[in-house]
Amino acid sequence: MTTQTSARPQLIDLHPPSADMHRLVQDGLQRNPRQLPAWFLYDNEGSRLFDQICQQPEYSLTRTEIALLKSSAADMARAIGSGVIVEFGAGSARKVGPLLEAMRPSAYVALDISADHLVQSTAALQAQHPRVPMLGICCDHSQLDALPDHPLIRGTRRVGFFPGSSLGNFTRDEAIALLRRFRRLLDGGPLLLGLDQPKSKSRLEAAYNDAAGISAAFAHNLLQRLNSDLSADFNPDQFRYEAVWQETESRVRMALISERHQTVSVAAESWTFSAGEPLVTEYSVKYTTEMARELAKDAGWCWCRRWHDPADDLSLHWLEAAD
Ligand code: AVI
Repeated sequence: MTTQTSARPQLIDLHPPSADMHRLVQDGLQRNPRQLPAWFLYDNEGSRLFDQICQQPEYSLTRTEIALLKSSAADMARAIGSGVIVEFGAGSARKVGPLLEAMRPSAYVALDISADHLVQSTAALQAQHPRVPMLGICCDHSQLDALPDHPLIRGTRRVGFFPGSSLGNFTRDEAIALLRRFRRLLDGGPLLLGLDQPKSKSRLEAAYNDAAGISAAFAHNLLQRLNSDLSADFNPDQFRYEAVWQETESRVRMALISERHQTVSVAAESWTFSAGEPLVTEYSVKYTTEMARELAKDAGWCWCRRWHDPADDLSLHWLEAAD
């Protein structure tokens, strides 16, 4: 097979195994504080609500990163060079456009856990960039040790792209494990990593608790998901949403606070919440440049430089594999 331009994106479906949701919820409910895996937030309704969060005036992360990519993609291309762009957790792949224009990559490879998402997003992107060959790989990239062998990837330098500050939703250990895995998957190629930065408490708490109540609905939807998928009986009205900036940990903690002493059943098991007890739905770590450099180093990457927006709210960090 040759790597010629294709009008239709290709798809490799590695059929990622579905997670054992029951066990993960059990583990999370046993923790102190109780915490649920953040990716449970993204069922169909959760993904729809997250798209709405990105449009709220208080939540500027997405808009800022898109503007930064538009203004700096040419400079990034000059500095980083090109190859095949490999986007991790591509989702709707709405950010990579300026890099496709500026880097003129030999191909674009999108990794995502949802085959439907991949088909839709690569088709939309292909219409805008007809000359870039595109390949979607449906997989759980956190379980992959190598990219599948494919003519679009074989023997070509790989440029990784992980925007959106998604790394901020992982613990430090998880983030290091993920960056190490990216290093293996990129096979010596560089990584462009988007990370949000610390800001004032008032700005951050407003960003994660918007006036329109979308962030609260996003968190409450998690309880609805547990009710439908695990036959739980959470009453969302009995849990108040709260987003708090925890400066020492440089993170926003999003949680549902039990309004009263109550017992909830999840898959026929009982869990008691005391009044005021938090059920953490998500953490969002905000990385200073120092934190980003240190994290990169601990994960086997060399930090090269960063691009940031005019207000210095968010950065795209360029990392190269350490020897
Ligand atoms: C996906 N992730 C980077 C978002 C964030 O900002 O941490 C998730 C989010 N949760 C509530 N608002 C946004």
